[in-house]
Amino acid sequence: MAGPARRPLGVVTRGTTNPNRLRRVDNWIVETCGDALRAAADPLVVDLGYGAEPVTAVELRSRLAAAVRSDVRVVGLEIDPVRVAAAQPAADPPGLTFARGGFELAGLRPALVRAFNVLRQYDESEVAAAWATMTGALAPGGLLVEGTCDELGRLGGWVLLDPDGPRSLTLSAKPTTLDHPGQLAERLPKALIHRNVEGEPIHALLRALDDAWRRAAPYAPYGPRQRWLRTVSTVRETGWPVLGRPHGWRHGLLTIPWPAIAPR
Ligand SMILES: C[S@@+](CC[C@H](N)C(=O)[O-])C[C@H]1O[C@@H](n2cnc3c(N)ncnc32)[C@H](O)[C@@H]1O
Repeated sequence: MAGPARRPLGVVTRGTTNPNRLRRVDNWIVETCGDALRAAADPLVVDLGYGAEPVTAVELRSRLAAAVRSDVRVVGLEIDPVRVAAAQPAADPPGLTFARGGFELAGLRPALVRAFNVLRQYDESEVAAAWATMTGALAPGGLLVEGTCDELGRLGGWVLLDPDGPRSLTLSAKPTTLDHPGQLAERLPKALIHRNVEGEPIHALLRALDDAWRRAAPYAPYGPRQRWLRTVSTVRETGWPVLGRPHGWRHGLLTIPWPAIAPR
C-alpha cells in the first residue's frame, strides 16, 4: 500500500516569469547537457518552479524536442497548487505535464532539472540542502542547472551540478544590452549573490571582467560581441580558467570551473 504523499519541500514564492526569459540558458543546456540527455535511458526533464504561467516550461520542452530528443518528456513542477491547476491547459501529454512538487522532485528521477529563479527568494543558508535534495533525486548521470536571471533574461548566472556537487558557474550577458560586466552581480545565483565582496573569488572575477571590458573599449566599434570576446580572452590570459571556446563566448557567456569561484 502506498504511504502518505510526501509534503513538497520548499515554500511558495513570487511567480514572476516571461516568455523567452530562459532562452539563453535553454540554448546553453542544449549545447552542454544535450549529450547527457541523449544518453539517458529515460529522457525525463523537470522544470522546477515554473511560476505563475507555464510559458518557460513549454519553451524548454519545444527547444529540447527540436534540438536534442523528440521523445523528451518535460514535467513542470510547482509547489503552488493554484499554479499547477492554472498550467493544465498547456499540458500536452506525454511531452509536457504539470504536477505539484518541490525540491524532492515529487518522486521523479529525471535526467535533467532546470530550477530557475527559484532559490533566489530563499535564504543563502538553504541553498546547499536544496541542491543536495535535487541532485539526490537525479537519475544516474543526471544534471541540475540552477540559476537566476533578470526579467527579460539578458543578465544571469547559473550553476551546473551533478550528485557530487557543483561543477561550474556560467555568467550570461546579452552583449548588445550590456553596459559593463559588473552588472552581472545583481543576477548571480543565490550561492554567490551575497559573496560579491572583497576577498571572495566572484568579486575578483567581476572586477577582472570590468577591467578587461574597459581595456577592450577599442573593440566597441566592431560591436558588443567582439568587445565581450576580447574581454573574456583577456580574463583568461590573466589566469582565470575560462572553459569553452570563443565560438561559445561570443554569445555573452563565460563558464568557470566551480572550484575557481566557490565561496570562501
Ligand atoms: C520567480 S518564479 C520563476 C518562474 C520561472 N522559472 C522563471 O524563471 O521565469 C519562482 C517559482 O518557483 C516556485 N517555487 C519556489 N520554491 C519552490 C520549490 N521548492 N519547489 C517548486 N517550486 C518552487 C514559486 O512558487 C514560484 O512560482
